[in-house]
Amino acid sequence: MRTHYCGQLGENHIGQTVELCGWAHRRRDHGGVIFVDLRDREGLVQVVADPSVPEVFTVAERVRGEYVLKVTGTVRRRPEGTANTDLATGQVEVAMSGLEILNRAETPPFQIEDETVSEELRLRYRYLDLRRHDMLQRLKFRSRTTLALRHYLESRGFIEVETPFLTKATPEGARDYVVPSRTHPGQFFALPQSPQLFKQLLMVAGLDRYYQMARCFRDEDLRADRQPEFTQLDIEASFVDENQIMNLMEDMIREVFATILEVALPSPFPRMTYADAMNRFGVDKPDLRIPLELVEVGDLMENVEFKVFSAPAKDPQGRVAALRVPKGGELSRKEIDDYTQFVGIYGAKGLAYIKVNEIARGREGLQSPIIKFMDDDVLKALLDRTGAQDGDLIFFGADKAKVVNEALGALRVRVGHDRGLVARGWQPLWVVEFPMFEWDDKEKRWAALHHPFTAPTTSDPAEVERSPGTLLSRAYDLVLNGTEVGGGSIRIHDGTMQQAVFKALGIGPEEAREKFGFLLDALSFGTPPHGGLAFGLDRLVMLMTGSTSIREVMAFPKTQSAACLLTGAPSDIPERHMRELNIRTRKAPGAE
Ligand code: AMO
Ligand code: AMP
Repeated sequence: MRTHYCGQLGENHIGQTVELCGWAHRRRDHGGVIFVDLRDREGLVQVVADPSVPEVFTVAERVRGEYVLKVTGTVRRRPEGTANTDLATGQVEVAMSGLEILNRAETPPFQIEDETVSEELRLRYRYLDLRRHDMLQRLKFRSRTTLALRHYLESRGFIEVETPFLTKATPEGARDYVVPSRTHPGQFFALPQSPQLFKQLLMVAGLDRYYQMARCFRDEDLRADRQPEFTQLDIEASFVDENQIMNLMEDMIREVFATILEVALPSPFPRMTYADAMNRFGVDKPDLRIPLELVEVGDLMENVEFKVFSAPAKDPQGRVAALRVPKGGELSRKEIDDYTQFVGIYGAKGLAYIKVNEIARGREGLQSPIIKFMDDDVLKALLDRTGAQDGDLIFFGADKAKVVNEALGALRVRVGHDRGLVARGWQPLWVVEFPMFEWDDKEKRWAALHHPFTAPTTSDPAEVERSPGTLLSRAYDLVLNGTEVGGGSIRIHDGTMQQAVFKALGIGPEEAREKFGFLLDALSFGTPPHGGLAFGLDRLVMLMTGSTSIREVMAFPKTQSAACLLTGAPSDIPERHMRELNIRTRKAPGAE
């Protein structure tokens, strides 16, 4: 129906007769001439109806916003002084010789390019929201990115295999979405949290190198970088170790950044141990663009007369740490109070600080509610260790290490942003040497830090049983600018080791058989050593496009409460359907 996309016209088309299809973005009447900005996925071009062509003009008079039009006309240079340099096609316009209304449109609930529309409205009318230039650009960008990733993997011998959605629970740490089975009354499928076990089975099968753009489903608390269904670029390979996987994966990311963004990422990506990351940044996904670091000061605080500090300093589970904010002396009382409230979200009971006005004046040069508890030696050591300068401020966290890390880790990022300390550019980082397990205080048992199929650094199952608390795993996470974009590990390929890990996690032999019998069986039939990784594709594209949420790079995302405003899902199903599925709700539909 057309010869060109609207957004592709330019001076090189002047004099040509073109046919265009698109939406009426805006219509303006100017002294008897009607101008329409015609829009399609590639952009806008101005089309003009002159009263001297009445068969076009009378149709143009009926055009309203978002009408679907077919235009025939001649491309001409815009008259002197009317070129629009903001528009790619702004040097030209199309003088219409034909105009057809292909479809009419109701007045849309918002102007397509209106930036102030609420997200709720945007999600309800997502198909209109997606007409926006930025949204279309991001979807196009995403498509080019997946193509580049696929291209890289295919050229290295990876084979894409699809794995089931209707399956059994995969333990990745979230709740499962379940689907009732009609043919097996009272039984349920789980939607996969990841294709983890299937990709391992593909290694047992001898596929050797697998990948998949895999949809994953996780019922967990949602945030800007989490959706209940999201896409992983899921990868697995046999006869490899962690270095080969990491090298290959970072090579792929470098190549994609180079081709898509023309950005040269460092080679190799830096690596940091989990312990280091926690000590220096309080988190396992440090944003290295922010030049602030946590500093350990527990040893200095063991004997101060401030219980809030001395108690955690002496507690093996405790931590006292400092965070120096360069030029933080400028912070107002109110700003400090706001930060105190902010760390409260993470369970911190307060946020002590020292304003370093003038070091040369000793104690007199410091301003703080807590220095009265510290002798001069402690103060001096504190200033030395934090590298404080005149005009700085030092924040303190004292509590269980977990609370201090979370609170100061988050404060570091917040202060970094507030004070404009975030460097430009890209900071990729491998985090390695994760603990195998972490203690779940609520459940009173060990939990896997990654997933239960991750191999420990030891090959001795007895050691897993003996000292679960100190074991390290062969896992690695890829962090980009403070966001975890990927994670993976070398897997357990030995049944005895897998049993030992299940046992350490409190999964007895019967439960292991019931839940993972198929895996244990598979491990007994000649499983190659293997490992892999999965990238959060939405997160990667979010970062690459500079978006603030993964919802901005997904066509049809869900809300914070995991609902789809467009379709109204989830929703009730007819009673007869429920009966067929052998299920009955506990509450009447709609009841609270
Ligand atoms: P993991 O659980 O770390 O590992 O997931 C891999 C990557 O997926 C992304 N991601 C998410 N993105 C959007 N919304 C979510 N709710 C969400 N959850 C995770 C993250 C994360 O790094 N099977 C293992 C991988 C492996 O071991 O190979 C796995 O799923 O970017
Ligand atoms: P208080 O003696 O409770 O008034 O506390 C003195 C200072 O220590 C205040 O600035 C508090 O914000 C701070 N503070 C209290 N508890 C903690 C804590 N657990 N970690 C860091 N600072 C704290």
